[in-house]
Amino acid sequence: MLTQQIPHATTLSALRTRIKSWRQDGLSVGFVPTMGALHDGHLSLVRLAKAHCDKVVASVFVNPAQFAEGEDFDSYPRSVIDDSAKLALEKCDLVYLPEREAMYPDGFATELVVKGAAQGLESDNRPHFFHGVATVVCKLFNQVRPDVAVFGEKDYQQLQVIRQMVRDLDFGIDIIPAEIVRERDGLAMSSRNAYLSEADRVRAAELNKIIFALATELKAGAVLAEALEAARASAENAFDAVDYLEVRNAQTLARIDSETVNEPARVLATVRLGETRLLDNCAI
Ligand code: PAF
Repeated sequence: MLTQQIPHATTLSALRTRIKSWRQDGLSVGFVPTMGALHDGHLSLVRLAKAHCDKVVASVFVNPAQFAEGEDFDSYPRSVIDDSAKLALEKCDLVYLPEREAMYPDGFATELVVKGAAQGLESDNRPHFFHGVATVVCKLFNQVRPDVAVFGEKDYQQLQVIRQMVRDLDFGIDIIPAEIVRERDGLAMSSRNAYLSEADRVRAAELNKIIFALATELKAGAVLAEALEAARASAENAFDAVDYLEVRNAQTLARIDSETVNEPARVLATVRLGETRLLDNCAI
């Protein structure tokens, strides 16, 4: 079977030439930034972007700035040929594959500092993370200049940080959230699921059960502190470690002070199975 072809741009000038020709034809542009190792979750972002725009660019760039020393930057799964074939099947219009040296040339010395929604949760465990994400997404937005960009709710805190950045810095880009795509047993799809052993893959499915059960209880009016404590105990029992399991305001990610949940809220959790961190979240 012939592999479907998809146009590639590896330099900023090639990217801009292609986008300029679309703009001259009056076409709108959607953007899906990724780090590759694409799964159905990523492809759902491309589909959503296509539903909103005439043309869609997906970038594949494993961003060193969002990994700390000792994290999995070197071992992060890379599969550009496979990724391109998957994007072609989705009729994505262009894949942007910038080089590390072009994204972070010698002398690069700028970093975005993000607060608000970026504080706590992931940042308590990975303090560098959202500064690295915001910096690269800001740069990619300036390169692509899309009308619309799609981000998955799987990385819910990241989505809120990007929305905040776009609002604060007047990017004028419409940020569209995409629902989490799950495996049959409910495990949220993630490129890092590939790290799980067979036994841990089975254990991983407990996470979505715990957070959905908590959301159901809270919707029914359970006392927040008590329900949270019980859910944390279940998670501690099921996993090697619990980085956090929290209930936060759905937009600001601020703590909820009331006894029960009476505002749009989200359960957010990150747990560890061996070296692998599993993130999940759901609405209340
Ligand atoms: O969600 C991701 O894959 C990354 O954090 C992103 C948004 C592509 C930035 O590197």
